Amino acid sequence: MIEKNISIIVAIAQNFAIGKNNDLLFHLPNDLKRFKQITNGKTLIMGRNTLLSLPKWPLPNRRHIVISDIEKEKFDGCEMAGSIDEAVEMAKNEQEAFIIGGGMVYRQFYPVAKKLYLTLVHKDFEADVFFPEIDFNEWNELSREDHYDEKNDFNYSYIDLVRK
Ligand SMILES: NC(=O)c1ccc[n+]([C@@H]2O[C@H](COP(=O)([O-])OP(=O)(O)OC[C@H]3O[C@@H](n4cnc5c(N)ncnc54)[C@H](OP(=O)(O)O)[C@@H]3O)[C@@H](O)[C@H]2O)c1
Repeated sequence: MIEKNISIIVAIAQNFAIGKNNDLLFHLPNDLKRFKQITNGKTLIMGRNTLLSLPKWPLPNRRHIVISDIEKEKFDGCEMAGSIDEAVEMAKNEQEAFIIGGGMVYRQFYPVAKKLYLTLVHKDFEADVFFPEIDFNEWNELSREDHYDEKNDFNYSYIDLVRK
């Protein structure tokens, strides 16, 4: 079942790579600004590895729901969920909740998410974590912006999608 208030936000390389050694694959300051702007004041849902990959948490002005099997573990400023269903239930009164990673959590939420905020980097990267392959026929494009990053020397696009 599609969860109408569940959105995914993710930065993906051309080969669907999203992470390596529990870190991101590229540093794209404009994308971090976009992430902050889109998720400001909203609820974030993430896997435990993604939380631990953040330099600091909680991220200001956002509710954090962390999914983990480890009972009774506590992280500053975070609420814990033992499953994706529990996380969905905890966020049910939110207008929009954002799945922010990582690979394991994206894979479980991809079939149920209503919206996809993609940053697509037009280059392959070596990685150990990947996003599920996206079938663009299942999504309508709401907006697209194409950019070039001088420091990284790659093209990238912001693509917002809603499930058909
Ligand atoms: N490019 C991007 O936009 C982006 C965004 C976010 C993250 N990333 C990258 O993704 C990588 C991390 O991804 P990952 O796949 O290793 O980890 P993850 O999805 O962040 O977290 C995995 C952990 O979440 C918990 N979990 C997941 N599903 C669960 C379920 N159904 N029930 C209970 N617990 C569950 C488990 O924690 P326990 O082991 O505690 O049970 C599991 O070990 C990093 O490299 C990170 O930099 C990239």
